Amino acid sequence: MRSATSEAWRAFQEVNAASTATLGYLVALFCGVAVYVLRKYVRPAARPPFPPGPKPLPLLGNLLDMPLTSICVKYAEWGKQYGDVVHVEVLGQHVIILNSYKAATELVHQRGTIYSSRPQVPMIHDSRLMDMQWTFVLKPYGPAWKRQRRLFTQHLNPTHTATFHDLQTESAYELVNSVLDDPESFEVHLRHAIGRVILGVAYGLRLQPTEDPYVTLAEKMTRLVGEGMEPKFLVNVLSFMKYIPEWMPGAGFQKLAADARKTTQELLDTPLEATKREIASGSTAPSFVRNALNEITDDSDPELLQDIKDVAGSMYAAGTDLTLSMIHQLFAVFAVFPNVQRRAQEELDRILGGPDFPSFRLPTISDRPNLPYIEALLKESIRWTPGTGFGTPRLSTEEDVYRGWRIPKGSIIISNSWGILRDENVYPDAYVFKPERFLPNETNPVQPDPLAAFGFGRRTCPGKHLAESSLFIEIACLLACFDFSPPKDEDGNEVDLNYVFQPGSGFVLRAPPFSVTIRPRSKIIERVVREAFNG
Ligand code: HEM
Repeated sequence: MRSATSEAWRAFQEVNAASTATLGYLVALFCGVAVYVLRKYVRPAARPPFPPGPKPLPLLGNLLDMPLTSICVKYAEWGKQYGDVVHVEVLGQHVIILNSYKAATELVHQRGTIYSSRPQVPMIHDSRLMDMQWTFVLKPYGPAWKRQRRLFTQHLNPTHTATFHDLQTESAYELVNSVLDDPESFEVHLRHAIGRVILGVAYGLRLQPTEDPYVTLAEKMTRLVGEGMEPKFLVNVLSFMKYIPEWMPGAGFQKLAADARKTTQELLDTPLEATKREIASGSTAPSFVRNALNEITDDSDPELLQDIKDVAGSMYAAGTDLTLSMIHQLFAVFAVFPNVQRRAQEELDRILGGPDFPSFRLPTISDRPNLPYIEALLKESIRWTPGTGFGTPRLSTEEDVYRGWRIPKGSIIISNSWGILRDENVYPDAYVFKPERFLPNETNPVQPDPLAAFGFGRRTCPGKHLAESSLFIEIACLLACFDFSPPKDEDGNEVDLNYVFQPGSGFVLRAPPFSVTIRPRSKIIERVVREAFNG
């Protein structure tokens, strides 16, 4: 019985082994045939190549190619060398640099669903670090960004911006009065004038003439954020470092982050509370916060109050430095390009009365349609110093193919506005400050408006109209009242101010310190400025 069973068992095992082997052969044969057929007849879908760019090294990628200074200039050079769409890879992160208006429009604008997010940088965004998720300027594309952006544009669109023309004009008159008093500190006066407009628009608060606490707070926050954006923080690569406590050696980034969190909280809370108190005491000054609070009802979304706070706080953070960088450089432009200054003053004099006429008056924003050369000068200033050289980076949220090139999901997209606005094919003599390029009667065809300075698509700058009317009235007032010339060195020679126009390393195109000689154009003008300022 036992041997019959074991024989049967052996027979079963033999049959089993034979059939297993047969099955193995069959599977192997099938796989071999399948591979042959697939190889022969079905070619694997080759992934499209990346756009051209400098050759990467193994592991490091293009880390060593990345510029640390004059970043936008290097990107523009790559644009000439490799084409208007450039690909680099840094430690596995793909970066796509767009150097033409066409490429930026076709990708960032026309494919807005894919290219409207922002990269999330640990130092800036992480709640243990600077925790800047609150501002929609830096939020990823999604419902929270949409809500806050809608709130901004609902209360600060081109129509509403006109409500603030008086504030912008008063601020420009205060600016020329301060320059008259103390021409050397023109940068301080500019910062105050811009801060006055933005904080006025956001909260309706009147600022103190000097050292206003809100401006000081807002400036501190802008400085901290600027510092946090510098590409020097190791925590952005080694994210576990965010757990290192502040007291440990080498944890300076934690101190910066803690300072930013505290300053942000103060900036969001203090002016909002002051505005609520002013409204309660009967103030009628229009402002974003006032208009938005008026719409709160009992059944309003509970997030709305927080959104109002965050959007108001975003205005100073987003607008001040970019507006300042533009108008600050203009002081050097006026001195370096005297022909531009003269032509602008001739136009202003025709409308306002010349500097020696007792009937001289200061400009207003309603003069704008009658001052086409100043309007062209405004456009040329935006082309010349587009606030930030390489725009505010975007993040692609889906794999994409453009002109046959692969753009992987998660790529950082940079629209190099400086390079786009210095493209000789679009703006001949791009390195000469020439407002007439925007005058229809003088350039045929007229050159395109410098829209690239304000970004592209769904996240394009919503403060553009406000910024443009502030810049217009400031430029008109400054040129109507003053002559600008290069300063003289110890030997009496004029200082060459062209170095001011070299883009630096920061995100904002901030000019290095420079001085310029500023003189009032006449005694009559001095009197008119004093009267305008003192009411
Ligand atoms: C000349 C001055 C200014 C320049 C050159 C400028 C430029 C820019 C640029 C390039 C962007 C990024 C757009 C993109 O991602 O494509 C931006 C975004 C933004 N700007 Fe401006 N801006 C200026 C003034 C202002 C002002 C005065 C305000 C507010 C009062 C403002 C509010 C904003 C906001 C809130 C965003 C973020 C939009 C978003 O992410 O959805 N900007 N700006």
